[in-house]
Amino acid sequence: MNATRNGRDRRRRPVADAIADIRAVMDAGPSLETLARGKARLIELAKRRELFTFEDFPLPDDDAMERSYLIHEDADGGYALYVNSGAPHQHYAPHDHGTAWAIVAGVEGRERHRFYARPPGAGPGAGPIVAKGEAIVAPGGAVAMRPDGIHAVDAMDGKPLLHLHLYASGFARQGERWKYDPDKGVAAPFLLDELGSIADAR
Ligand SMILES: [Fe+2]
Repeated sequence: MNATRNGRDRRRRPVADAIADIRAVMDAGPSLETLARGKARLIELAKRRELFTFEDFPLPDDDAMERSYLIHEDADGGYALYVNSGAPHQHYAPHDHGTAWAIVAGVEGRERHRFYARPPGAGPGAGPIVAKGEAIVAPGGAVAMRPDGIHAVDAMDGKPLLHLHLYASGFARQGERWKYDPDKGVAAPFLLDELGSIADAR
């Protein structure tokens, strides 16, 4: 049994348990309270560092910023959990996640999240967006975002990242995603193929 197969077997139960717990909370919808509880449960899973290693989730072997590994998705496409293995130069301009709420929990490395809001009453893709604070995701920590959340993400410390990303639905089902230019006040569709490689690691 190779390391990857071994890792998949070891994390199957803990991942299924975490998703079941989070589903029980988040099926009520993404409120501040449910997102806080979902976040706490994802942090608990992320603390199982032996389950999430660079050996099982290798960094990009080219100049890509990141590789995403899908480790869980419900049969209907909901509750998609990815392990993101990010290079030290990982940088994402402000973007939303279509119709999906999102929770990002740290396993290795630190990344800075800068949050933004659309103007009151404005729909997806509308600008100009306004900065509204930031947070650092490190091991033992996480951020949660409602479906209207917008963030920019940067790796810190010149070191690689291993983080868990949980979405209400997988990338392919998040509908139209937008990326925003806060300086120019404009937005453009954020296409799936800009995300780099996505491997099925279930
Ligand atoms: Fe994002």
